Amino acid sequence: MKNLFIATTLCAFLGACNSQVATFQPGEIWYDTNQQMINAHGGGVMIHNGTYYWYGEYKGDSTYHAPGVEWDCYRTEAGGVSCYSSKDLQSWTFEGVVLKPELNDSTSDIHPSMVIERPKVIYNEKTGKYVMWMHIDNYNYSKAATGVAIADSPTGPFQYLHSLRPFGEESRDMGLFKDDDGRAYHIYSSRGNSTLFIHLLSDDYLEHTGQYSTNFAGKYREAPAVFKRGNKYYIISSGCSGWDPNEAEYAIADSMLGTWTVMGNPCIGENSNKTFGGQSTFVIPVNPAKDQYIAMFDKWNKLDLINSRYIWLPIRFHADSISIEWKDQWSTNDF
Ligand code: DGJ
Repeated sequence: MKNLFIATTLCAFLGACNSQVATFQPGEIWYDTNQQMINAHGGGVMIHNGTYYWYGEYKGDSTYHAPGVEWDCYRTEAGGVSCYSSKDLQSWTFEGVVLKPELNDSTSDIHPSMVIERPKVIYNEKTGKYVMWMHIDNYNYSKAATGVAIADSPTGPFQYLHSLRPFGEESRDMGLFKDDDGRAYHIYSSRGNSTLFIHLLSDDYLEHTGQYSTNFAGKYREAPAVFKRGNKYYIISSGCSGWDPNEAEYAIADSMLGTWTVMGNPCIGENSNKTFGGQSTFVIPVNPAKDQYIAMFDKWNKLDLINSRYIWLPIRFHADSISIEWKDQWSTNDF
């Protein structure tokens, strides 16, 4: 990624090639423009005024097993939410930790002893605010809540508002989807992760409306990543096996609240039954008119979480079906 970044910059300088072409090496170390390792896990990308903003979990640099917790509960100190910006998906500028952890209040949801995961940001045209939702938990994941923060700028600072359980129900792994009509939905694993809720948010995106659907009950889906192509909605999700990879599944619907039709594993080829070692987090609609979508996955390193990697792969369409194939390297020219 580092060399490719230099190559692309040189190309742009010489005017010899299209600087809009981005090249990806899934699973390798990705660096920002300061040659620091990108630290934005479980993330999502907001496209806003011609810029890509990548938000993610800013992992602390030591991983430990949560004391006294029986399951495979590896964790780092919650370091808040980072943001990187890019014009071309290739060179990413670190915009800082845009939601800072609360270091001095051990009772705060965003104290380092807590869990801040899967942050996603959308812009609200009506209020002019950037709204972030995230999974908030305690060290053993029993709080099972969602948190919300707002900012006046995409690069923050985000002001943390509070956490809640939507209409009293648990909320863990999550995604956020803003539809073409401006409606936004919170998608979250609930009821012991057995059921995926899709919940319409209020017009200001700060509250749950009570209009929701319960989906895939008993199927234990996590890591939901939603996108829209034409009039069809898609959810890619993972199974539930902690930090370890499992088989992805996708579903299609004609409306966000469903009914969702399960289509099977979108991944094909070697290691596709383990999502190539990754877990879904988001789909970037790079250019929907040309069917250009990037599926984002995290390749977790549970014993050293900050050293988890990113797997971004193009989605291919076959009528309404999709497939995702492993590539050691690919570029946006390959769409
Ligand atoms: C799986 C989830 O998808 C991750 O975001 C994280 O919560 C881990 N479980 C924790 O084990």
